[in-house]
Amino acid sequence: KDDLIVLGIETSCDDTAAAVVRGNGEILSQVVSSQADLLVQYGGVAPKMAEEAHSQAIDPVVREALDKANITESDLSAVAVTIGPGLSLCLRVGVQKARKIASCFNLPIIGVHHMEAHAVVARLIERELQFPFLALLISGGHNLLIVAHNLGQYTQLGTTIDDAIGEAFDKTAKWLGLDMSRSGGPAVEELALEGDAESVKFSTPMKQHKDCNFSYAGLKTQVRLAIESRNIDGKIPISSVSSQDRSSRADIAASFQRVAVLHLEERCERAIEWALNIEPSIKHLVVSGGVASNKTVRDRLDQVVKKNNLQLVCPPPSLCTDNGVMVAWTGIENFRMGRYDPPPPVDDPEDFL
Ligand code: KG4
Ligand code: ZN
Repeated sequence: KDDLIVLGIETSCDDTAAAVVRGNGEILSQVVSSQADLLVQYGGVAPKMAEEAHSQAIDPVVREALDKANITESDLSAVAVTIGPGLSLCLRVGVQKARKIASCFNLPIIGVHHMEAHAVVARLIERELQFPFLALLISGGHNLLIVAHNLGQYTQLGTTIDDAIGEAFDKTAKWLGLDMSRSGGPAVEELALEGDAESVKFSTPMKQHKDCNFSYAGLKTQVRLAIESRNIDGKIPISSVSSQDRSSRADIAASFQRVAVLHLEERCERAIEWALNIEPSIKHLVVSGGVASNKTVRDRLDQVVKKNNLQLVCPPPSLCTDNGVMVAWTGIENFRMGRYDPPPPVDDPEDFL
């Protein structure tokens, strides 16, 4: 079955992504078209605008993915597409494209859960990674700790009770006047390198709750108050402030990042204990989702994992942030289990969602 060739399409949020992956894990192509410019212009994801951008990008992105892989639609074994969670207007663009290709070329179609894809792509990176494993999935909209028993079988140990960590990174970047032409996370990470992580005393969230849930709304508020009390004006971009102002912004970035990650460390520490009670054979912690590209996150969690005699599996940044490879690969794993739908009839007006 290693001769499978699957196209993966991802349009759940603000990136239009497609990739072609082989059954043996070989990535034949990977294309991402980002809406970062729109985000800067409008200060966030506006669903209608995002849908418009996806609609314009989807055909060229899929074409480029096929061209780069040096194949045509008729070489494909199946089409995989993200069906949720995400903005339904945006998901629809990807699903319609996938259905169109599947019906025109008589291909099976595989609906993929976005968060499952973030976790399962780790098995493409680390071929030794067997179920069960523990996974921390951290992105702009999600903060999840799950035990992955098997494909499609998960136990949720914890989730966020308010915001996800990526949202806190993005707001911090905005309030510090950072360049948002990429997402906020990398900008905060970069500025944090210049700062003193101990200088601003933020308190770690949910200390008194002995569970695996997360909360980032309170930390966000602490950051906003720290910014206000230091008279930092985020409307003035960091590129045009004094060196003193810059270093005070860097201190906030570094201190925020330290505590944001400390919260992850504490929760993972407990989750490892819980997970091993449920599945004593667990050997790996998978950390994935956009925020898993952060080096401090990776380094600190590596320490936690080593202390507990486990192994960390963290995909490279291009596979942590939203991408088509994770969708194609999760499609491949599902396809092998017989979990797919037959090609949709041509001109079927019925929506997949
Ligand atoms: O998984 P993802 O690409 O999209 C969602 O499904 O949400 O995650 C995007 C999030 C954004 O909040 C972004 O700021 C954050 O991941 N992110 C980072 C880094 N790179 C991306 N956060 C911290 N450090 C990074 N290097
Ligand atoms: Zn994501």
